[in-house]
Amino acid sequence: MNKPTLLLLHGTGGNENDLLPLAGMIDPTASILSVRGNVLENGMPRFFRRLAEGVFDEQDLIERTKELNSFLDDAATKYEFDRNNIVAIGYSNGANIAGSLLFHYSNSLKGAILHHPMVPLRGGELPKHNGTPVFISAGKNDPICPSTEATELQTLLENTGAEAKIHWENNGHQLTKTEVEAAAEWYKTKF
Ligand code: MLT
Repeated sequence: MNKPTLLLLHGTGGNENDLLPLAGMIDPTASILSVRGNVLENGMPRFFRRLAEGVFDEQDLIERTKELNSFLDDAATKYEFDRNNIVAIGYSNGANIAGSLLFHYSNSLKGAILHHPMVPLRGGELPKHNGTPVFISAGKNDPICPSTEATELQTLLENTGAEAKIHWENNGHQLTKTEVEAAAEWYKTKF
């Protein structure tokens, strides 16, 4: 079986280099497509605009999600990888745009690792995901992405047919080595 291409999506204020160590821990021989968010918030790259912390500009989120999905189509042609075999790894804002790809398109991602995500948007019908594997990691004391967001996201994804699992950390918003190790173990069983 061919290996997935790992799509790396950083958190607010990050860049395309941030998650390279995660890709190395999760699948050191997979190809990587790492993207820098093209929205700037006071100079900090993001993948879509927000009106306040945790309050998203939904119209922008929808447009940027479409734009990222088209970028994946174009990149697959340009770099000659399988468009139907992309696994996203996102942290925080990057996890939120990856979640939004799942909320808008049924075939955009083969699977996803979402570190500290939120529910990207509410209302509206979600596309079907036939067993798409999704790993969510969340902090029980995360003030930015509250634990209720992670559980609601899991439920919403499972209702679409995706297979969503949550790994809990007793921490806040920081990305920890143990959650990446848990993601790596999960990935081995799915891809
Ligand atoms: C977001 O804006 O996507 C989330 O609130 C998390 C963050 O990136 O700060």
